[in-house]
Amino acid sequence: MAPPHDEKAEIQVNEDSISQRSISNVLFIIAMQTEASPLVNKFQLTEDLDSVFPKGVPWVRYHGKYKDLSINIVCPGKDNTLGVDGVGTVSASLLTYASVQAFQPDIIINAGTAGGFKVFDLYGVGSRQAFYTPNLAKELSLKVGKLSTGDSLDMSTVDETAIHANDATVKDMEGAAVAYVADLLKVPVIFLKAVTDIIDGDKPTAEEFLQNLAAVTLALDQTVTQVVDFINGKSFSEI
Ligand code: ADE
Repeated sequence: MAPPHDEKAEIQVNEDSISQRSISNVLFIIAMQTEASPLVNKFQLTEDLDSVFPKGVPWVRYHGKYKDLSINIVCPGKDNTLGVDGVGTVSASLLTYASVQAFQPDIIINAGTAGGFKVFDLYGVGSRQAFYTPNLAKELSLKVGKLSTGDSLDMSTVDETAIHANDATVKDMEGAAVAYVADLLKVPVIFLKAVTDIIDGDKPTAEEFLQNLAAVTLALDQTVTQVVDFINGKSFSEI
């Protein structure tokens, strides 16, 4: 996590270069199958069994049309050796890179769960700026905050110091990796994170995460659907 920089300048660049373009091709990066499956059903997407990805990688792609939008949902899939979802920054960055190359999306949406802190009321600016979506946030009453990413569910004391020093209000395991690739390839990106656990609360993080995963995923999927409905038929300057 790096210090905040000039948000206004970033927004100006965003606005100048792409504002009038309409959004028709959306790429979702979703780390866990549990998080992706309800959306695959909701948007009636089909799995690509003849994958555009290199042979042998566990990455999974679902695609289809929803309203006026072409939608791709990609997941890292199950780790070839351990059989668990390929969460974390390494697979997220590779998957994002390969998917942008293959599907040339107008926008990337990284949707998933995150840990939260007791106080979540800051309007934050990250070291990489997500696409500025004031209308979307207002219309759907979404909280806007700064996301901190690391490859661990738990928070070490070193992480804690950095997270607090940079005013992050949610903690996930993929966001910064997706932001890095989106910035590299100049694709606008937004992050939708639903909180499963309170990191500085009383309960053990992993236990609380598993306890809340199903219910929070449901809430996330409802919000993602609202976001897709809002984006449908709009240009970047309207979101
Ligand atoms: N995803 C859900 N909870 C999380 C946490 N506490 N840290 C990182 N990623 C998470």
